[in-house]
Amino acid sequence: MHSLVLLTVGAFGPLLATAADCTREFLKTSADSLVAAQKAGDPALLQPVSSGLVYNENFAAATFKSGILATPLKIDHSRHSLDTTQCATYTELISATGSKPYVLGTQMYFKDGAVSRIETLVTTTGDWLFNATGTLNWASKEDWGTIPEGKRDSRAVIQAAADAYCDIFSDKSVKVPWGYPCSRLEGGSYTGNGGPNDKCDVGIPSGVALVDRHYVIDETVGAVSVFLSFSGIPDSHEFRVENGKLRFVHTLTVMSARGNGKGKATTLPTCSAEAGKICFATDKSTTNAVALGEVITECPLPNGAANYTVPGTNLKFRRMCETDYPSGDMGKFPVLSMPDCIHLCAQLNLYPASAEGRCLGVSWVYADGPQGTGISFCYPKSSVAKSQARVATESAVLILE
Ligand SMILES: *[C@@H]1O[C@H](CO)[C@@H](O)[C@H](O)[C@H]1NC(C)=O
Ligand SMILES: *[C@@H]1O[C@H](CO)[C@@H](O)[C@H](O)[C@H]1NC(C)=O
Repeated sequence: MHSLVLLTVGAFGPLLATAADCTREFLKTSADSLVAAQKAGDPALLQPVSSGLVYNENFAAATFKSGILATPLKIDHSRHSLDTTQCATYTELISATGSKPYVLGTQMYFKDGAVSRIETLVTTTGDWLFNATGTLNWASKEDWGTIPEGKRDSRAVIQAAADAYCDIFSDKSVKVPWGYPCSRLEGGSYTGNGGPNDKCDVGIPSGVALVDRHYVIDETVGAVSVFLSFSGIPDSHEFRVENGKLRFVHTLTVMSARGNGKGKATTLPTCSAEAGKICFATDKSTTNAVALGEVITECPLPNGAANYTVPGTNLKFRRMCETDYPSGDMGKFPVLSMPDCIHLCAQLNLYPASAEGRCLGVSWVYADGPQGTGISFCYPKSSVAKSQARVATESAVLILE
């Protein structure tokens, strides 16, 4: 773990640098001031800041006053990457032992000797696999130290390793330079145990586009930070590359920001049910609404939309975004929308057709490939015992009153 440099107001003086002298020392001093500002909850401690600063949180416009930087956080861990070529920094911050846990990733871009753009991803309880204690535990055991000069990879090699990893989510033919060992820290969960047998080439989703990538690269530590859109979800993937191969992967995924204008939420056509009949939303307006292989997603659900009553029935379901019920499957079916999936469950509840009993809930996986391929299906459930967080998955459970 890196020690923190504590700074006092005014310690910087006229700390200005031109593009020509964007040194590691300059970048480190400024990145350290970000940590000091976050610790104090005082954005003014961040230095030097351009008058035309652009400040975004979770890829949406924010202000110092309303943003995370105004909240003092107990900093348990921080680590910087310094990119003197682009004049940019990336800082990973973990606050696990304060009153509310956070894991932050911040990219800062400098122009004319001052920070001109800040992109911060703020993750906390409820975000993808979030567990700051876990993040702190694993992150502080890893070695992201300086690589001897003769053994460093070029910027191009480091970026290519990151790109290959990001590309394989949508193209299984991509050759990723997997290192062995290699460990992935996703939210607070770890794919290995820190031992020599850890592997990163396990459980990679498919059919997900990782786009709009913004890189900060530090060859001295083989690190590349990539801020990207994970199917519309603000996401950070950071890699440590050693000898051209992936050694560590850290991810932050901001679930609460899903659908902030970047997702493909659409309004569902209404389904006109006759009383006493189950209405399946498979009339032509639904099927015509999307091209084959696409789906209509509605997450995050508008306020008050979590309870869904199947038209023509008294079956009420509670809908939950980014949630999976991994067990109790009665089968799997391609559907184009969550109401279609719930209607299927309603039919299998009112007219049981399985020895497993009535349908009590569903999970709908909608982004692991086109519907009906891979694992992108509606899964009616005969039991809904235990749920877990899962990207691009919506579940619903029958409310028994
Ligand atoms: C969070 O991570 C810690 C440390 O790895 C672990 O002990 C704990 O069980 C995790 N908590 C949850 C809810 O997974
Ligand atoms: C949803 O249903 C639950 C259980 O019946 C109820 O407690 C809750 O108030 C309902 N919410 C809305 C917004 O109707």
